Amino acid sequence: MTGLAKIVVLGAGNIGGSLAQRLAESDLAREVVLVDIIDGLPQGKALDIQESAPILGFSTRVSGSTSLDAIAGADVVVETAGLARKPGMSRSDLLEKNAAIVRGHAEAVRAKAPESVCVVVTNPVDVMTYYFRDVSRLPPARVFGESGTLDTARFRTFVAEALHVAPKDVTGFVLGTHGDTMVPILSLTSVSGVPLAKLLPPDRLAALVDRAKQGGGEIVNLLKTGSAFYAPTASQAELVRAIAHDEHRLLPVSAHLDGAFGEKDVYVGVPVVLGRQGVERVVEVELTPAERTAFRASVEAVRADLAILAKLPR
Ligand code: LAC
Repeated sequence: MTGLAKIVVLGAGNIGGSLAQRLAESDLAREVVLVDIIDGLPQGKALDIQESAPILGFSTRVSGSTSLDAIAGADVVVETAGLARKPGMSRSDLLEKNAAIVRGHAEAVRAKAPESVCVVVTNPVDVMTYYFRDVSRLPPARVFGESGTLDTARFRTFVAEALHVAPKDVTGFVLGTHGDTMVPILSLTSVSGVPLAKLLPPDRLAALVDRAKQGGGEIVNLLKTGSAFYAPTASQAELVRAIAHDEHRLLPVSAHLDGAFGEKDVYVGVPVVLGRQGVERVVEVELTPAERTAFRASVEAVRADLAILAKLPR
C-alpha cells in the first residue's frame, strides 16, 4: 500500500482529468482531489473517474472541488492549471497569464500545505516552477517541474520506432529547458545499454533529435485546440509514483540549481534522484563540450523568461 493520504491536482482540464484518472487507477493515495474554478468540471470529472473503480478495482477516493481549501492536508500537489498553447504559440507566450494563476495556487499551498511536495506542470514550466517555489516559500527540494521525463519519452518513442525495438528498452536524457532549446543528451542514450551512436547513423539521429525537440508543437498542430495530455500525464504519474513509493528514481526534472552544472538560482531540466521528500539530489553528469554549450544556451533562455517574470506587477 502507499504512503500518501492525499494528492491534490490543481486544474481539471485535459491534463488534470487524465492525471487524476492515472493516479486513481494506480492507487497511489487514499484520496485524489481535483480542483478547478469552473463549477461542475472538477466534480463531474472526479465522479466519472470514481465510477470506474468497481470495474478497475482501485480503492482511491476521487472528489472534485472549486475551493482552494481542498489543498489542506495534501502530501502532493500537482499544478496543472493554466492556458495551453495553440498553434503558432511558444510555451513562453503563456507566461503572463499563467503566472497570475500559479501565484494564487502557490499562496494557497504556502498557507494550507507547507509540508507538501509540489510538481509543477504549467507552462512555461521551468519559469512557473521557479515562481511557484518563490511564492510558496517551500524548500526548493520540495518543488520541481515536469519536463525531461516527457521530452525523453518522445525521444525514446521515435528512437524505438526507427530501430524497431521495444520503447521501454530505450533510455536516455533530455535536459535543459522544456522549450525550443532543450538538450537531448545522446551520450547518455542507449538501447538496453547499447549506445545509440552504434545503432543509428548521425543524420538519422539528428532527425530524431529535431522531432523530439518539436514534439509538443507537433501535437499542438494536430489537435489545433490545445496541447498534449496523454504522454504528459503518464510522465507526471511516473513522478508522483516515485514520491509515493519513495523510489529514489533517477529521472530528468526541472530542479532548482544551486551551483550544480555551474548554475545558481534557476530551475531547469537536470537528472535528479526523486523520493518521498522530493528532489534528494541533483546528479551532475558529465556533458560533452557541445552539450555543455547547448545546456548553457538553454539556461539563458530560461533566465530571459525569468527577467520578464520579475517585471510583472506583484
Ligand atoms: C508539451 C506541452 C504540454 O510538451 O508542454 O506537450
